[in-house]
Amino acid sequence: MDSNTMPAMPRGHVDDCLRGQALAALAAQEWPEKMAAVRGIADSALLDCQREFAAPAGLPGRPQRPELVAPAQVKHRSMATVEGRAALLHALAHIEFNAVNLALDVLWRFAGMPETFYRDWLRVAREEAYHFDLLRQRLVALGHAYGDFPAHNGLWDMAERTSADLLARLALVPRTLEARGLDASPMIRNKLAGAGDAESAAIVDIILRDEIGHVAIGNQWFKHLCAQAGKEPVACYAELAQRYGAPRLRGPFNLEARRAAGFDDAELAALQADQPEVNSR
Ligand SMILES: [Fe+2]
Ligand SMILES: [Fe+2]
Repeated sequence: MDSNTMPAMPRGHVDDCLRGQALAALAAQEWPEKMAAVRGIADSALLDCQREFAAPAGLPGRPQRPELVAPAQVKHRSMATVEGRAALLHALAHIEFNAVNLALDVLWRFAGMPETFYRDWLRVAREEAYHFDLLRQRLVALGHAYGDFPAHNGLWDMAERTSADLLARLALVPRTLEARGLDASPMIRNKLAGAGDAESAAIVDIILRDEIGHVAIGNQWFKHLCAQAGKEPVACYAELAQRYGAPRLRGPFNLEARRAAGFDDAELAALQADQPEVNSR
């Protein structure tokens, strides 16, 4: 059998290939199992950039809890109470859980990219797992656990919509949804710090620092693919955002973080021009 058409390995069997190990981690259901699988992917693992995988059913693996609900059903609570801050940290932990899955999904799903592409996304998967752990441990310190509050699945919905199109995946996940996280972080951080929760605020600082790198990786590979296809990035992004139903981004924008993540003046101008009602900062 041609190695490029081999199905994914059955559960319990450790695949030699880094991308196969990413698929196994994506399929893992319980968070301890998933995070251990991410940590278990070694830099020295064989990397077959051309391999095509048969997708197993039931992706992504996820635990029974948290219960998934519509975004409008996720309650916003006061930062003045421990319960309210725990609910916020839980929402962030769930975003990071999904972000681990998203990075793993890029690794196995999209064949034919250069080796450095897969190395970059492995780094992202590891950092998302680190963010998840920081938030989960902070939740425990506040008397809660991951799974205690309902959560919504918006991030993974976008992964499904863009599962056949890497250019769209890069445009809409790192360059839209993760970039929106750059904009939201300062406000979240200040809310937590304002409530006297310096430990939680410090975790948001670490996440923002790393997320600039994730958006930068998304920008770099989006522009690489645009150049290869002879497409102009600003127009190409606008077209993909419309075709795949990207959320309309509203200011204020974290322009400093966005610049550090590689958005250029033309992209930032296009973002701000798309703001009929809200003044951006
Ligand atoms: Fe993250
Ligand atoms: Fe990220």
